[in-house]
Order: sequence, then C-alpha cells, then structure tokens
Amino acid sequence: MRRSLAFAERCSERAISRGSVRENRPASRSSINLQNAPGTPMRVSALVLGGTDQQTPLAGATVELWHADSGGQYHPHDDGDISQYRRDQINLRGQSTCGTDGRTSFRSIVPAHYGNRRRHLHWRITAPGHPPLVTQTYWRDEKGTPYERSDPVDRNPEECRWVEFRDDAGTVVGEIAFILAAAR
Ligand SMILES: [Fe+2]
Repeated sequence: MRRSLAFAERCSERAISRGSVRENRPASRSSINLQNAPGTPMRVSALVLGGTDQQTPLAGATVELWHADSGGQYHPHDDGDISQYRRDQINLRGQSTCGTDGRTSFRSIVPAHYGNRRRHLHWRITAPGHPPLVTQTYWRDEKGTPYERSDPVDRNPEECRWVEFRDDAGTVVGEIAFILAAAR
C-alpha cells in the first residue's frame, strides 16, 4: 500500500466525533456493509504507525470506521453506544485489527453527503501506549468545490485529511496512513 497521507498529532485535535462501533470484523472479512445497502463499492486501506519514532507499524492496532449510507443516513442514526441496537439495525460501522505490518482494510459503499457536510469517513484508531486518534477524512476531489467551505462542523481540515480516492474497475479506492502520537 502506498503511504499517501499521514496523520500527525495535530490532526487529532480536530473533528472529534462521538460514536461507537463495537462490531468486530476480522481483518480477512472486513466488509462493513453488513446489510448489503446499495451504493458505489468502496475499499479503503489503513496503515497505522506509531512508536517513539512514529514510523513503527502498530500490529494489533484497532481501526474503527463508520459512515453514512448512500442516502446520508447512519445505521443506527445516533451517536453513542450501539450495543443497545439489534444486529440488523447496525450497518456501515465496523472495526478491524491491524496485522503485523500495521495494515488493515475495509470494504463498504461510498457515503452520501448530508446537510452541508463534506463527504466523509469517521475513524477511531486505538493502540496500546498511544492516545486514541478520533478524526474524519474527506475526499480530495471536493477541494475547490463549495463543499470545501460549506461544512459547518469542520471548517478548515488539515491537508492530511483530504484523501485521494481513485476508481478501480467501479470500486472507489483510497489509502490512508494514521500516525499515532507518542504517549505522554
Ligand atoms: Fe458524519
């Protein structure tokens, strides 16, 4: 996987979102479209780095991803603990554990816009010895469009959070590197 973008600690200070995933998905079966919701297929890969040099792949790091469906709705459409919902009410949320190379990936569908928000993915990255990173990433091709400035939640995201996505035979593909800050 190409290491296309990096998250420094400064990126963790912004765009904090509440939410909870707690839907374990083995890395080898990392589809989070559990209800087969319609939409454009998406595959997003994550590399988690940390350690004192902030370049060490973090085997066993947990990556949580949640996002809206192709109609702009979340399942459940709620912040907070999803453990109180039935399994069939949960979709487009999941977590995966990084392998020895610090990598994992998810398959899902491209989220829609909702409100004045940019198209976005929510992330929470956790690993022993590091503070958690909770953030959002955006589609780079929305830079220079009205969506760049219209988002009332996160007005000026750092450069590292604009992710380049490309088309791979009908699947939207993106790769993100997260760098966890050292524990204090
Ligand atoms: Fe959102």
